[in-house]
Amino acid sequence: MLAKATSATPWGVDARPVQVEVDVYNGLPQTQIVGLPDASVRESRERVRSAIKNSGFDLPPRVVIINLAPADLRKDGNHLDLAIAMAWLSALGQIPEEALAGRLLCGELGLDGGIRAVRGGLALADLARRRGLRELLIPAVNAGEAAALDGVPVVPVKTLAEAVEHVLGAVPIAPAPGGRFGEIRIEHEPDLSEVRGQDAAKRALEVAAAGGHNLLFLGPPGSGKTMLARRLPGILPPLSLAEAIEVTKVHSLVAEEPPSRLLEERPFRSPHPGISTAGMIGGGSIPRPGEASLAHGGVLFLDELPEFRRDALEALRQPLEEGHVTVVRTRARIAFPARFALLSAMNPCPCGHLGDPRHACRCPQPLIERYRSRISGPLLDRIDMHVEVPAVTLQELRSEPAEKTAQVAARVLGARERQRHRFGRTCSTPINAAMGPEDLRSFCRLTDDARRLVDSAFERLHLSARALTRILKVARTIADLEGRDAIGTSHAAEAIQYRSLDRRTRRLK
Ligand SMILES: Nc1ncnc2c1ncn2[C@@H]1O[C@H](COP(=O)(O)OP(=O)(O)OP(=O)(O)O)[C@@H](O)[C@H]1O
Ligand SMILES: [Mg+2]
Repeated sequence: MLAKATSATPWGVDARPVQVEVDVYNGLPQTQIVGLPDASVRESRERVRSAIKNSGFDLPPRVVIINLAPADLRKDGNHLDLAIAMAWLSALGQIPEEALAGRLLCGELGLDGGIRAVRGGLALADLARRRGLRELLIPAVNAGEAAALDGVPVVPVKTLAEAVEHVLGAVPIAPAPGGRFGEIRIEHEPDLSEVRGQDAAKRALEVAAAGGHNLLFLGPPGSGKTMLARRLPGILPPLSLAEAIEVTKVHSLVAEEPPSRLLEERPFRSPHPGISTAGMIGGGSIPRPGEASLAHGGVLFLDELPEFRRDALEALRQPLEEGHVTVVRTRARIAFPARFALLSAMNPCPCGHLGDPRHACRCPQPLIERYRSRISGPLLDRIDMHVEVPAVTLQELRSEPAEKTAQVAARVLGARERQRHRFGRTCSTPINAAMGPEDLRSFCRLTDDARRLVDSAFERLHLSARALTRILKVARTIADLEGRDAIGTSHAAEAIQYRSLDRRTRRLK
């Protein structure tokens, strides 16, 4: 007898449906799986057999053919076990066909029939919702994140026997309650007011937060670069529901434990300089997101930028430009979202004191050149704002604490709201940094004086076309912080000033 069940396999941060067909007939007993299963799926044959037996079901010796469709979709992970087991039991006449119809069944089985966690629970719920399925059966540990989406009941199951009883209607399981979004209060320690002086750097941090721009801090050791960077998440606005869903989908793929609800805090990722290219942008035979994607919706902080491997930095060029990473596999290309604000910090030279009025720099010129050349021109070109963070003076250190994180965050939120209003509710990334050429034309109108200023900077600083568009975007954000529609000279001048290190770093290379 032939039976069917619906399951899914991970596909980037999403899930693709897989139709499981099981045919059982008389003959020399054997079990086969066909339909492009990878090694992890092939192993499920024996696992499922033991699980069925150990759950107390009758398993007569027969020929069992398991087909996974569509045939050209590579299936990996252990998501399919539960659906295979249920379709198998259905083919044996133990579950009626209609009990499996319209249900998405996902879970890994243990030999004892227990159901273990899978990766990407939220993506499975999203798939069930989009397909209009009546129910998602999922391991109980994944139910928290999956139930965060409205639109599809999420049934937490702990064992195969429990799942069967539920679909038969014998012992129905109540759907998991969804946690309410925005319920948890996020406390941001530490506070921006702890950083003394460094007004220009703080201002740059505010502009970067307001428009989602990339920022590089350049300064001597101990001037507060790392300290400032760690305070960026606190001034960023809270995640919207749509963003929280995207962020949770990515993190759910790599988390040791499935998240118990939607993640509501913006990610702040600070990878070690020794990180490989795959670690940075993702990869592997079963593609996993890298740091660039884990920072999606938040901040990727690269402290001590020149210490990073050059290939790992170069790999960031695609996400910085396009907001996603593409991982190429034998039969397909998988995209992971990767729209983050890049925040980086470095010393101006190996000893760190080049340009420091209180310390002589001891570095020979070739060493400085080698140090700087670790960061390529194309990467620097993608960083909208280059900001010097000079050594703090004693007077500054003794000064009264300046503005608190909450005050700056309020201004950032105001500027973000202007952007949301401008780009419309349907825009998935309503931030100035993500503007396309069309948006630039419509929204970055300059006053005549500002236009002249930008034109002359283009010639004087030998800027690239990319640098110019990035100046316009930063200027747009500065005007937004002031609540202005048109970009005036003061906005343009400040944005240009953030690029003035361009010429210097190029000459030094
Ligand atoms: N502007 C500042 N206000 C108050 N404390 C500061 C300031 N700058 C530095 N400090 C103190 O110095 C410590 C080191 O600062 P931080 O690690 O941010 O320096 P850095 O610029 O990242 O240096 P490096 O280039 O060596 O990484 C801080 O933990 C803090 O105690
Ligand atoms: Mg530091």
